[in-house]
Formats: sequence, structure tokens, C-alpha cells
Amino acid sequence: MNAIKISEKVYWVGAIDWNIRDFHGYSTLRGTTYNAYLILGPKPVLVDTVKEAFHDEMMSRIKSVINPSDIKIIISNHAEMDHSGSLPAAIKEIKPEEVYASSMGLKNIDLQLHENMHIKTVKTGDSIDIGGDKITFYESRMLHWPDSMVSFLESEGILFSNDIFGMHFASNKIFDDEVPEHEWIYEAVKYYANIIMPYSDIALKFLDFVKTSGLLAKVKIIAPDHGLIWRKNPGRMVELYTKFAAQKPDNKALVVYDTMWGSTGKLAEQVADGLSQCGVRVKLMSLHNVHRSDVATEILDAGAIVLGSPVINSVLFPSLGDILFYLKGLKKKNLVGAAFGSYGWAPAPIDNLTKELQEMKVEVVAPALKVCFVPTEKDLQAALELGKLVGAKLAEKLK
Ligand code: FEO
Repeated sequence: MNAIKISEKVYWVGAIDWNIRDFHGYSTLRGTTYNAYLILGPKPVLVDTVKEAFHDEMMSRIKSVINPSDIKIIISNHAEMDHSGSLPAAIKEIKPEEVYASSMGLKNIDLQLHENMHIKTVKTGDSIDIGGDKITFYESRMLHWPDSMVSFLESEGILFSNDIFGMHFASNKIFDDEVPEHEWIYEAVKYYANIIMPYSDIALKFLDFVKTSGLLAKVKIIAPDHGLIWRKNPGRMVELYTKFAAQKPDNKALVVYDTMWGSTGKLAEQVADGLSQCGVRVKLMSLHNVHRSDVATEILDAGAIVLGSPVINSVLFPSLGDILFYLKGLKKKNLVGAAFGSYGWAPAPIDNLTKELQEMKVEVVAPALKVCFVPTEKDLQAALELGKLVGAKLAEKLK
């Protein structure tokens, strides 16, 4: 397999995972790539490695350009296994003179490999000489792991941004100007929502640093560790991230529900209709058919969420448990909402749905709507009114 040249000195030597469809619980319907980069020069550098199973693919691409044993330096920007998985094999095969990571990177790699890799640590502002050229490091802690950092190749203005600005998108065409935006934009939003959203405050600070420190002005190419390389307009991703991280709510609501015998589904449709009558853009999402990571994607710019669940064995429906767990971790801000559901003889779990929303810091606009077995016309009207209440509160928030 061949490397792909991305600049005078730099080659993409990563791997394409065309068929992965589940990335630790995140649905990756367009596959992904694990991007690694080779910098040529007097002291050739490998920036990041790939998932362990793709080690041979990376080495094959490296061999299409140079003898791997000529690589003198390996940089590990992030110690998650999709990038560090092939690091031990790469170190053994390449035998570099130096391996660099952040201090937390060193700690995490040690904890994963249980083997001394003789890694040197770097911190924000540190630079290394790679033979007439310079790489400068910037730690990006909690974007999205404590060890995360980015590396900047000064002479060519290439920011190796690790997970930041990445997306799960498998493609043999690796540049932003080679793939139409409609093919990748959903994946960019999805990646931010599912991977970076919990750390949005940190992202805003990092983006501010990138803009005000003068770093962005020097960046010509952003080369992340997943998906496309941004060479046409690298500032576009910075703009998108600034928008995403602000979590400014739009006039949009999600009605997320599951249904057992159709009753909660009927209520969900009424809630959605009520929201719609208030002029809200509504997404009706049945957890029977929609993946948790797509709910997360849609919630990024939403201003409201209404959750509906049947009761089974005196608890919430399992798919509601799943989405609540997942969304809690993502810490979406600026939501109003409410809960509803149907039950046979134990209504309390539907009230628990309200409590769960409150724990997620959602501003709950009304007590949960609880309907025994099959909704009557009056119940359906109550669901419509619940949707209107949420819609009215959202409109008030957006003023
Ligand atoms: Fe792509 Fe955090 O690993």
C-alpha cells in the first residue's frame, strides 16, 4: 500500500478501516481512518501510529517512501489505542532514537503496555529539532483525554491535531477539497457531539489559545488522526468547533422515546405535534430504530429534549436507560424538556425520567405525563399540550 503525499516533506501513512460500524458504542456508518504521518528530512519523524490490527498497513505505506529503520523519532500525540495500539510494534520494528509524548501520555502508555518504552516527555511550548526543522508541542488536555496534545511542524505550517478536528470517515481521498461537504459534514458534527462535547469549555479555551497565540495564523494544513485533512480552508474547522463548543441552542427539539405496545409512541407523536405547532423544528426519534450516537449528534444544536418511556418490570424501558447513561456523559448544556410515558400499574419510573433530566441539568417545564395503558383522547390532548409547553419555554429561552 502506498503513502499519500500531503506536502513537500509530509506523507499520510495511516490506515483505512472501511467496515467498522461500532467504535466503542458510537455508530460509524461511514467507517473511519487512523491517520499517521511521516515527516521526511535529516531526522525522519512518524507522527502517531494506528490501531493495532492495522499496523502492517501503516508499515507498508511507510515502506513505500523510506526504509522504516531510517525513522529517528516517533511522536505519540494521544494514548488511546486507535492511535497507540501499534506503537509498541512500531518502536520494536523501527527502533527510533527518540519517542515523545506528554507526561500524561507517558503515564497512560506505561499503564497500557506495562513495558518501559523510554519515552521522553514534552509540554506546551517545547520544541524539538528534527534536523533543520522544528516541531513544537501544545498540550490539549481533556481534548479528549488527559494525555492529548497536538504537534506543529513549523516549516510547513502543519498542525497534527490528533482527535481534534477529526471525524469517522473512511475515504481513499484524504483532503477536504476532494470530498463534497455533504458527504462529511454530518460526520464532523457527530464526532464533536460524541467525542468532544463533554469538554466544550476546555475546547473553547483551546480554540481561543489557537486563535490568540498566533498559532492559527501560521497553520496551513490541519492533519487530524481521523478522516479528512484540512488543506483548502483549515480555519473552517476552527470556526465549526467554535460554534459547536458554544452549544448555543437552536429552535429545535428532540422527542426521544421507545414504545412497547404503541401507547408511548402515540404520546410521542402528540408531543412532537405540540412542539411543531409552536414553530419548533422537531426530530421524532424512536430508540427502537435510532442509534444513541445519532441522538447525541442531533442534540448538539437542540434547545429541548422530551423523553418518553413505557414501564417494564417497574423500571424504565432498557433503551431509555441506555440513552440516559450516554447523554449524561456527554453533558449537553442549555436544554429545556419534559418526560412522558405509559404504564400498567407502576407509574413511578416515569417520574424518575423527570429526575434523570434534572440530573442532566435540563430545565424541566412540567411534571411527567403518565398514562395508564392506552391513551384516551384526553391523554393525547395532554401530550399535545406538553409539547406546546416545552415549545413555549424554548421560545422564551431563545428570545
Ligand atoms: Fe481517536 Fe481518542 O482516539
